[in-house]
Amino acid sequence: MTLEFAERIRRIPVYPAAGGYAEQAMPLVRLASNESPYPPLPAVREAIDRALRTLNRYPDPSSSILRERLSERYEVPSSRIAVGNGSCDILLAAGEALLEPGAELVYAWPSFSVYPHLAAASGARAITVPLDSEQRHDLPAMLGEITVATRLVVVCNPNNPTSTALAPADVAAFVAEVPPDVCVIIDEAYCEFNLLGDPDSSIELLSRHPNLVLLRTFSKVYGLCGLRVGFALCGSETLPQAVNQVRQPFFCNALAQTAAVEALAHQDEVIDRVTRTVAERLSVAEGLRALDLQVADSQANFCWLSLGERDEDEIMQGLRERGVLVRGGRALGADAPALRVTFGTPEENARFLEVLAEVL
Ligand SMILES: Cc1ncc(COP(=O)(O)O)c(C=O)c1O
Repeated sequence: MTLEFAERIRRIPVYPAAGGYAEQAMPLVRLASNESPYPPLPAVREAIDRALRTLNRYPDPSSSILRERLSERYEVPSSRIAVGNGSCDILLAAGEALLEPGAELVYAWPSFSVYPHLAAASGARAITVPLDSEQRHDLPAMLGEITVATRLVVVCNPNNPTSTALAPADVAAFVAEVPPDVCVIIDEAYCEFNLLGDPDSSIELLSRHPNLVLLRTFSKVYGLCGLRVGFALCGSETLPQAVNQVRQPFFCNALAQTAAVEALAHQDEVIDRVTRTVAERLSVAEGLRALDLQVADSQANFCWLSLGERDEDEIMQGLRERGVLVRGGRALGADAPALRVTFGTPEENARFLEVLAEVL
């Protein structure tokens, strides 16, 4: 006898997570998951340490202190802030709350590998819009795909995996054109690294667009992906209420809440990390161009490079054999050989460039 699963189980794609997490044998240069190469701050570690003593209690189910701190920082009422077990948790819950058979969802492709899950899990129809020739979202084409059936539009800015970003004015113009009954999620997981404008420029749009959601995370610049905590700043109270309704209680664990509150208080460190990442971004781009490789204009903590006619699998394997983990573009939706490479420490990036030159 085999178990009979719900029909949607056959539709939901398996998330293409990077490998290498169980390996201890070789010192690996891990540039495959857009993580921060910097460990949590001492103050964050101390806060986690203090919170360990009360782990016999459930976490605050409404993450009230964290939401209060986020509210102070972004000047968005805490009733319009959702917290989650990573920002993915909020994204999936939003999909569950908004989508159903007959509904449509619009997003660009290639983009974040979780978006295909939203339609597959709900039975809604996914409308994917190809990126433009510079690997950016084609916003006019996305607008053209919105119909009466559209419930949700997702814009990933900066875009994973291609690292490119949209100018704040283009985002504002896009949001203004979307009908007010269609939810717009701007996934800003990497916004702190985006130098095309103020990373917080989208926040003022919330006061004009109740249908807008800005999705952010402590996984990237704050370096807390191992704890899982993200948040959404929303234009109205309805989305936080709906995403809370569809999730299990206590979705954000106590250590994650504590660490996030502490991390938020160290914005000087955020600026420092962004500065270091941008310096690496420039030097890796220069190194790649010296190898005659085409690189997209990165506004994130990773880059996207075209391999032309080269064999993606062979290059990935060559890098791996030398202890460097990156992501192959095909697993992330590219239709031509490409690599997505996270920026690590200066030493890790230098090693990546050295090994890539060897493999090429
Ligand atoms: C675009 C994008 N959004 C969201 C996430 C998920 O982040 P979290 O760790 O907060 O779930 C990622 C993680 O890689 C991402 O690339």
